[in-house]
Amino acid sequence: MDKSFGTKLAHAGRPQGQGVSPVNPPLVRASTFVFDRLADFELASKTPFDGPFYGRVGTPTTFAFESAMAELEGGHRAIATASGVAAISAVLLAFLQRGDHVLVVDTVYEPVRRFCTRMLSRMGIETSYYDPAAGAGIEALIRPETRLIYLESPGSATFDVLDLAAIVAVAKARGIRTAIDNTWATPLLLRPLEHGIDVSIHAATKYIVGHSDAMLGVVTTNAETYDAVRRATQDLGACAGIEECNLGLRGLRTLEVRLRQHEASALTLARWLADQPQIARVLHPALPSCPGHAFWQRDFDGSAGLFSVELATRDPQAARAFLDALQHFRIGFSWGGYESLVLPMHPDSRALGRWKDLGPVVRLQIGLENPADLRADLEQALAAI
Ligand SMILES: Cc1ncc(COP(=O)(O)O)c(C=O)c1O
Repeated sequence: MDKSFGTKLAHAGRPQGQGVSPVNPPLVRASTFVFDRLADFELASKTPFDGPFYGRVGTPTTFAFESAMAELEGGHRAIATASGVAAISAVLLAFLQRGDHVLVVDTVYEPVRRFCTRMLSRMGIETSYYDPAAGAGIEALIRPETRLIYLESPGSATFDVLDLAAIVAVAKARGIRTAIDNTWATPLLLRPLEHGIDVSIHAATKYIVGHSDAMLGVVTTNAETYDAVRRATQDLGACAGIEECNLGLRGLRTLEVRLRQHEASALTLARWLADQPQIARVLHPALPSCPGHAFWQRDFDGSAGLFSVELATRDPQAARAFLDALQHFRIGFSWGGYESLVLPMHPDSRALGRWKDLGPVVRLQIGLENPADLRADLEQALAAI
């Protein structure tokens, strides 16, 4: 029977067909699985990723979270990792080796840029950055040794939305792999493999866990890329904790209701902010003022609760006054939890020069508080500018 996405969220990764069972898969903690017979041990070692074998590969709790994510993203298999960054690093290392070239979107989450600069370059792997507006123009940046195009949509800080179809068409024509950071959208709003992308990556730390109390990553692959990504995650040893996988699974059950509330509150506040004289521009994918808005309209099933504003002032002290005056919005990294957060962003450190003349950019994570309270807080803090 066909299942809507909300129904899949309620059922994915749960025990079925076992007669009486608990609603949730039991939490299985183990470094070691023991076998009575050598023959069974030898059999398990032939397919170590398909069942309990060794704790670093996973326990039934890990497998439950992974199978839920694979189902929700329409992928072949999913692999849980220690964090979002662990998932991204594993994917980059899965496809790249000495002499290769990778194209990374210039609006990428900053620690990925650091990984390319500090780790990939040391291994003889060259990175170049493409404009998020490149679309089919990315073709001009491809070299004979380009092996991977890395996407993040919407991008960090300025939320530029990519033309997935144009980039995927170029990659496929040239036999180049594609991987995307899909953290903002979650599988609820975008399922990248349906768009022909090979690998979808999540910092499950954000909306999937949803309560700011765990670090977790997950990679969903198609059939062609699964072995390479699984090998890389194993070689790095950055396996997900069992409690964290359980929290990821729990978070999925309420993902739709939480995200729809984040979406509604964020849209209300983004539209209100757009009319305030202290705001130069609202960078929210669902608003026409956001670069790539038309691609968001075409590809996404809604919007999340994270966006940025560019302040009208050029005075950094005024921007500091705004951040310090906020009371419901606390200053902090991360996002995707129930609480509102704010963070100054620095897109001027990107590779392409065009981000240098922006006013102060402030990122807002709209939490699950009453949006009227959040608006009152923003109003009084804007008055401090
Ligand atoms: C877009 C994006 N991707 C990946 C990450 C990294 O996730 P983690 O903190 O779980 O390593 C973050 C964290 O802020 C992020 O914003």
